[in-house]
Amino acid sequence: MTARIAGITGAPYARIMSVGSYRPERVVTNDEVCLRIDSTDEWIRERSGIVERRYAAADESVVDLAVSAAAKALASSGIDAEQLGFVLIATVTHPYPTPSAAADVAYRLGAVNAGATDISSACAGFCYGLAMAQDMIRCGSAEYVLLVGVEKLTDWIDLDDRSTAFIFADGAGAVVVGPSDEPAIGPVVWGSDGSQLDAISMTQSLTDYRDHGGPRFPTLSMQGQQVFRWAVSTMSKVANEALERAGVSADDLDAFIPHQANMRITDALIRALKLPSHVPVARDIETTGNTSAASIPIAMDRMLSTGEVPHGGTALLIGFGAGLAYAAQVATLP
Ligand code: UT7
Repeated sequence: MTARIAGITGAPYARIMSVGSYRPERVVTNDEVCLRIDSTDEWIRERSGIVERRYAAADESVVDLAVSAAAKALASSGIDAEQLGFVLIATVTHPYPTPSAAADVAYRLGAVNAGATDISSACAGFCYGLAMAQDMIRCGSAEYVLLVGVEKLTDWIDLDDRSTAFIFADGAGAVVVGPSDEPAIGPVVWGSDGSQLDAISMTQSLTDYRDHGGPRFPTLSMQGQQVFRWAVSTMSKVANEALERAGVSADDLDAFIPHQANMRITDALIRALKLPSHVPVARDIETTGNTSAASIPIAMDRMLSTGEVPHGGTALLIGFGAGLAYAAQVATLP
């Protein structure tokens, strides 16, 4: 006779309980970036909206950044590290294929009862992780999930490459996701388009570099215009679908927190969504740069801590980038 496996169910819904972020200390101006690329402060401001960004110190690792943000989120969540059932780290800049950054972060926080793994969805990683965290909680495989978006992109960009050097930066943002009696994270709309893998990729694989050498250690390369066109033409549809699936209209929103890719992409999305002017929009890229998986939780933390958006407000989140991967959902802010 086939053994009968006991079924489990989790909480009816899930919610973001708290958020914390860490922006490295060192501020890097456009003028400093322009010491190594043929560009100007004016061009960078106009084309990307970036005025300055943060770079981590040489001895500050992806795990260090993640732990700093996670400790803040955990402290304001009201739960202890031992209560975490899972640690999810969205990152593409942890320099070890294995072991995961998540296992190290869990250990350093004292999350002794947590499963741990990394998510590789680049700039969409935070929204992917939020959907996965909610599913874990609703299915009963974890009561509380720590989700961190973290990047140390300066380890993986060529600071002499003017197509990427001015845009990417370092940082971390974290949320604790836990059970809820009410829906507080909407259905996710996600996907990827592998026909555009070349739009954001590495100049070479690490094993090719090892075996055949190359002019430089492999770094991130980006077809900026291709990504820009894709983001502007496709992401407004994805964002609209996330609103529809959540049963929320743009007018109901208290915040729009898109991935901080480029201020012009954000502006194009606002126009395409016909976002009412009373809805505050994350513009954290101005002083933080593009921190890939970290950009949404860092921006969320700033908007809440400055009082720009209310605790408990309704936000539309959308992440998009290498893959080309994307994910969007509506969520109640902690
Ligand atoms: O976060 C992951 C997803 N990534 C993104 O979403 C990034 C999407 N792409 C972008 O944000 C933009 O494409 C960039 C900000 C990266 C570039 O802006 P752009 O307006 O697309 O620039 P472009 O590549 O079309 O270049 C326009 C002009 C060119 O000169 P000509 O041919 O018009 O004379 C470039 O040679 O600007 C020149 N240019 C620069 N000039 C000064 C390109 N890079 C630079 C630079 N400084 N750094």
